[in-house]
Amino acid sequence: MKPSSLVGDQKRKNLRDLLEQCRDLPGEVWECGVYYGGTAWVLRKFSRPTKTLRLFDSWEGLPEPHEKDNAHYKGGFKADYDRVKGFFKDAPNVVFHKGWIPDTFEGLERCKICFAHIDLDFYRSYLDALGFIYPRLVSGGIMVFDDYGAPQCQGATDAVDEFFEGKETISCRGDAERTAQSHYIQKGKA
Ligand SMILES: C[S@@+](CC[C@H](N)C(=O)[O-])C[C@H]1O[C@@H](n2cnc3c(N)ncnc32)[C@H](O)[C@@H]1O
Repeated sequence: MKPSSLVGDQKRKNLRDLLEQCRDLPGEVWECGVYYGGTAWVLRKFSRPTKTLRLFDSWEGLPEPHEKDNAHYKGGFKADYDRVKGFFKDAPNVVFHKGWIPDTFEGLERCKICFAHIDLDFYRSYLDALGFIYPRLVSGGIMVFDDYGAPQCQGATDAVDEFFEGKETISCRGDAERTAQSHYIQKGKA
């Protein structure tokens, strides 16, 4: 059975197009913020089956908000972990990391990442994910930010802007077709 998704067709298409660009790069595919697995399903479907796909979520919903987080609440988006695991039971190379980011990154310091989808809604969660993933993103690798520019996710937008300020990489991209859910950066490309 396939999971239902929070996102629409355009977002799924954007994810697919961006993943295609990373298909031949070395490194794993990561998703931070899985919920019921709607976007994780797209990542599994359109990345090479030999690639490891790591899925990170508390499955207890959102943590305590920071003062920069202007909407959503603690415990929002709680999902049934066993049900989500069941959706992927026949999918090869999917690894679940249940618990709080950044604790669940422990032990993964040697990983290289070619594509990361970040959908965590909150300021602190974004900063923690960016701080760990960006140094491990290979050249040409892409990070997509579901929440960047969304009016209800001011904290996530601030975190991305603060993190990338002064870095040699690029500002966040997105065009009219690529909705607020598909802003992204590509490492090593201005
Ligand atoms: C909007 S949902 C993800 C939606 C999913 N990508 C989809 O398309 O259906 C946001 C998720 O982020 C998770 N989350 C936020 N901050 C977290 C943290 N610090 N550690 C673990 N999970 C976190 C929540 O549990 C929630 O499931």
